[in-house]
Amino acid sequence: MIITIFATKSSTKTSIAVSVAVYLKNSGNDVLLADLDTQSSASDWLDYRSENSNLNQIVCVKKNGKNVSRDLIELAAKYDYVVCDCGGKDYLAGRLSLLAADIALIPIFQPIYHC
Ligand SMILES: Nc1ncnc2c1ncn2[C@@H]1O[C@H](COP(=O)(O)OP(=O)(O)OP(=O)(O)O)[C@@H](O)[C@H]1O
Ligand SMILES: [Mg+2]
Repeated sequence: MIITIFATKSSTKTSIAVSVAVYLKNSGNDVLLADLDTQSSASDWLDYRSENSNLNQIVCVKKNGKNVSRDLIELAAKYDYVVCDCGGKDYLAGRLSLLAADIALIPIFQPIYHC
């Protein structure tokens, strides 16, 4: 199953993606985190997390370009869940990951205005 998190900039996509990935992993599933953001926040976070050997480790791949949809579908055949963290903009890899997704999570960012 492919779960894509795609929304605007700074809308907590990566926080949700890594939390969902860890939850599913700790529930006994094979999980792949697909980092589709050139900013690489999710893979950086996993690198940091991997320093603690007491924690379940999660495999991460970085993907971009026109073959993202095909690649995600192939990877989904090998894992219980592929969790996709997208960049905060309208771009090809993000759109292709939505096309491949079984579930799309779209956090709605609501700015707090100070009067
Ligand atoms: N549940 C939460 N409540 C409040 N703030 C949060 C929450 N989750 C994340 N944040 C904060 O929101 C900001 C953006 O989070 P995050 O990096 O997950 O968003 P993002 O959508 O992945 O951003 P980007 O578009 O840059 O990739 C960070 O400063 C983070 O600390
Ligand atoms: Mg992010």
